[in-house]
Amino acid sequence: MTEMTPVTQSDTQTPIKASPTLPDAQTVTQVTHYTDRLFSFRCTRPASMRFRSGEFVMIGLMGDPHPETGKQRPLLRAYSIASPSWDEELEFYSIKVPDGPLTSRLQHIKVGDEIILRPKPVGTLVHDALLPGKRLWFFATGTGFAPFASLLREPQTYEDYDEIIITHTCREVGELTYGRDLIEALKHDELLGEVIGDGFWKKIKYYPTTTREESPKMGRITDLMRSGEAFADLEVPPLSPETDRAMICGNLAFNLELKEMLEGYGLVEGANSNPQHYVVEKAFLD
Ligand code: A2P
Repeated sequence: MTEMTPVTQSDTQTPIKASPTLPDAQTVTQVTHYTDRLFSFRCTRPASMRFRSGEFVMIGLMGDPHPETGKQRPLLRAYSIASPSWDEELEFYSIKVPDGPLTSRLQHIKVGDEIILRPKPVGTLVHDALLPGKRLWFFATGTGFAPFASLLREPQTYEDYDEIIITHTCREVGELTYGRDLIEALKHDELLGEVIGDGFWKKIKYYPTTTREESPKMGRITDLMRSGEAFADLEVPPLSPETDRAMICGNLAFNLELKEMLEGYGLVEGANSNPQHYVVEKAFLD
């Protein structure tokens, strides 16, 4: 796979349709392709929809007509909302699976198209599920970065913690682009600077790693933590339930492995109803 230059469709290219025709329809306002495997898009937000940064919703498209009855059913998948709770639009970050029932089609959406969005946000990667702490870790692989894209733009993240560490492990360098650009943009975000305080982004330590293409830091984050290399690079001690809180979002094997490691450091899994030291959620792949 080769890295491709992000191509952003501006909303001046296609007129936005006025009247939705799908149930729970929202209109696409921007599409950006990062690699042949990854893209992000933005859409309108239902006026009444409230959510907590880090939650997910069901989104999708109408499925193909049934061969006999001709009836169409919505084809929906759970997607983390990548935009923060205060944003007037919604953003999503998605993989493209060539034979994936939804993403094989979703990857072709354009500005002005409609998607289906069920406005019932839920999820465990929320501040409410964690006890107060000093340092917050976001552990992501691949598109698991999405809920952290939301939480990194959420003022509460900086109000509640002295330090935020975001680790992102991807196969190839191009797959880091979305996250790297987002973190870079925080440095110039005047609105957030005004709300949270100038230089809020200095609380972030970004730790991107790749496993299948050469980059400044190679290896799985789990291995880099086991060897102590990650802690040395980041200049922090290994995680402790006294000071550290964590959120995990990646592929299933990663989630399970890291969950076991965090338990090994003495951290306890939390939930909305029982806030503790860490929370975990799987990235929803097609
Ligand atoms: P690797 O290339 O060694 O499999 P994927 O695209 O398959 O979801 O993987 C995203 C990233 O997550 C890859 O860099 C992959 O590394 C890494 N990864 C997969 N499984 C684990 C795991 N159990 N622990 C840590 N990283 C993992």
